[in-house]
Amino acid sequence: MSSYREILDWFALHREASHSELERLIATADPERLDYAMGLAREVAVQNYGHGVFVRGLVEVSNRCVGGCYYCGLRTENRNINRYALSEEEIVEACKGGYELGLRSVVLQGGEVYDMSQKVASVVGNIKSLMPDVAVTLSLGEQDAEVYELWRKAGADRYLLRHETATKGHYARLHPERMRYDNRQRCLANLKTLGYQVGAGFMVGSPFQGTEELAHEIEYLLGLQPPMVGIGPYIPQCDTPFANQKRGSVERTLLMVSLVRMALPKALIPSTTALASSDAQGMTRGVLAGANVVMPNITPHKYRADYAIYDGKKSSGTEAGEGLRQLQAELGAIGYEAVLTRGDHLDFMKR
Ligand code: 5AD
Repeated sequence: MSSYREILDWFALHREASHSELERLIATADPERLDYAMGLAREVAVQNYGHGVFVRGLVEVSNRCVGGCYYCGLRTENRNINRYALSEEEIVEACKGGYELGLRSVVLQGGEVYDMSQKVASVVGNIKSLMPDVAVTLSLGEQDAEVYELWRKAGADRYLLRHETATKGHYARLHPERMRYDNRQRCLANLKTLGYQVGAGFMVGSPFQGTEELAHEIEYLLGLQPPMVGIGPYIPQCDTPFANQKRGSVERTLLMVSLVRMALPKALIPSTTALASSDAQGMTRGVLAGANVVMPNITPHKYRADYAIYDGKKSSGTEAGEGLRQLQAELGAIGYEAVLTRGDHLDFMKR
């Protein structure tokens, strides 16, 4: 039987492993194994993107949501939350603020609603005409193909829609009946057809997830080949049905980031805010595990606390636009550099 390191070496080189081998890779995240996996993943990331880490300015445009995800504080059933939606002007101003910091990539993220389609199209058009060199990413949940098309035509470049879990039965345990695994998959397919750079992703340590499901994540991503993958630990939120579930492990999250980096060498993988919120060194540890994107928050301050998808979400220091200097210093200290360009996936680079 092959050793842990032999299986990992083979996977890093050939992106091949059986289901049981994947489960074996994932089962234990002890420091020695984790270090080894992170080292291999880092090499793969450096081969493709060097020591650069792309910076995106994140604008949390609204916390209104029709969704019912059992893990998320923005779920429509949560009454204990102050709902807000930025005005068009506020969104454009936030992006201009990011632009002045030097950022050429912004992400407009928000809960899922169906009454903002025209507003979003107008904002995207505005940003693109004022700042044509900025890449615009949207992350606004499941929408009709026509809406995705409207936003794409307005100028949106990328779309983040985590698949949340690749296992259908698991999806059904994390979401109410009205939310469908198949619909989410259809949305991801529609986004790809429309020419978006699409981001999938999942949480590590979500309730009812075991090594079986995590192994399936790798297999699913090898099939889907998404240009972007967001991976963060599950963190309980006090006003959700999963309030008392235990949080996801930082180490297993880092291990999964490393395995996804090996599976998708050219992918754009953020060192997520959930990781930074779970560990004081989370941001840099994510980069050292093969992540190559960070998304500091550039939402106006008065709204930040209300975007409470989980408890203890960080929106200061390296997780904030105003902390860009600190972000640069922390990346510099590990031999990396913040890159403020559009940060396209290698296959989408404009020539
Ligand atoms: N813990 C960690 N991540 C969460 N998300 C939502 N709720 C939580 C939570 N409690 C993630 C989901 C979603 C993204 C915006 O944030 O994966 O897609």
